[in-house]
Amino acid sequence: MARARKNGHPDVHLNLNVRGLPQSATLEINERSARLAAEGREVFRFGLGQSPFPVPSGVVEALKANAHQKDYLAVKGLAELRQAVADYHHRKQHVERSAEDVLIGPGSKELMFLLQLVYYGDLVIPTPSWVSYAPQAHIIGRQIRWLETRAENNWRLVPDELERLCQQDPGRPRIVILCYPNNPTGGTYRVSELKRLAKVARRYRVVLLSDEIYGELHHKGEHDSIARFYPEGTIISSGLSKWCGAGGWRLGTFTFPSSLRWLLDAMAVVASETFTATSAPIQYAAVRAFQGGLRIENYLSHSRRILRTLAGRLVKDLRKAGLAVATPDGAFYLLVDFGPQRGKLAARGITTSEQLCAKLIDDTGVAILPGSVFGRPPAELTARLAYVDFDGAEALTASAEVATDQELTQHFLDRHCGRVLRGVERLCEWAGG
Ligand SMILES: Cc1ncc(COP(=O)(O)O)c(C=O)c1O
Repeated sequence: MARARKNGHPDVHLNLNVRGLPQSATLEINERSARLAAEGREVFRFGLGQSPFPVPSGVVEALKANAHQKDYLAVKGLAELRQAVADYHHRKQHVERSAEDVLIGPGSKELMFLLQLVYYGDLVIPTPSWVSYAPQAHIIGRQIRWLETRAENNWRLVPDELERLCQQDPGRPRIVILCYPNNPTGGTYRVSELKRLAKVARRYRVVLLSDEIYGELHHKGEHDSIARFYPEGTIISSGLSKWCGAGGWRLGTFTFPSSLRWLLDAMAVVASETFTATSAPIQYAAVRAFQGGLRIENYLSHSRRILRTLAGRLVKDLRKAGLAVATPDGAFYLLVDFGPQRGKLAARGITTSEQLCAKLIDDTGVAILPGSVFGRPPAELTARLAYVDFDGAEALTASAEVATDQELTQHFLDRHCGRVLRGVERLCEWAGG
């Protein structure tokens, strides 16, 4: 693992909270995949959660048209973009927010870090959770409290679990992060579940960070925000990285309730002393993305249909091979549980998810991430598979040829997502062998 010592310097001069922290697990697996590929091995890149789809052409055009924008922008973001983001949440989630409630940053990840930095409270997250929430809390020196979920419940957080934790010290300040559609499981919450969670969040006045970066990638386009049910305490996190295919552009958004304006202002103070403002051309282009319109809706509905069809097929293949998989509702992830094959795997010396992923990539070239990096117990044989290793531009073009009221066929998947199918086939053979 790439630790702080890698460059040869003794790590005794490092801040205590950073000492011993490995590099982000997703980047690590990506580098390992790249190394194998450079050796001429076939690699199936199911590790890094990057959208397979290109940035919509209208948004690319907007970026080109704004390449000349060279001035530093306001620290909280371009006024026009902040308005477009507020309008977007109103249009999509029926959440009333104004432009002044929006903070723009170089990725939602950076904004999450700033939030944890300025708000003195515990970080409360369900297990499994996205890889970076906990390391951020660790770096800042916040306490991390994990909330249990169960596979039988598709790894969803149940309100009683949150209640149980909050009851222990009702007045304690907390940031609770809820991510849906979820990374790493692909699952999401029903409205009734969001309402019940919102009730508990309100009772204990937690700051609820609703990570909706995959909201537009709900496979049926039916994403709902918990901000509707706990508006006064919910910050909605979004950005261009997933639904707009623009992870490398680095633009994230936080949308606050007016009651938490003081938090936004505090984050802006730190932003002004660190990144100053988000890249100007990217912000101008993002206005176009958040304003939406027919072409973007079209792009989204094709993206969803491809992901939905592919996910359905993969779940079937994996289950047929005797593996357990949580049913996905959105995003581009599956949480695969190799537990049913535990005996066979143990006979091959595999007893942890980390060993499993290391052996899998060495034997087959299939890169997936161990459940342990998402906060699952090391000996649980879960792993996240990101089914993104296909040419999204080609798949979108082909999908445009199929009537929108029809489902895509298996033949479509064979032709346009063949690498993903082949990689999963190898994984299944390996697990059963
Ligand atoms: C659940 C989740 N939240 C937040 C992010 C951060 O996205 P960005 O910083 O690109 O906005 C990611 C990226 O992988 C993610 O998967």
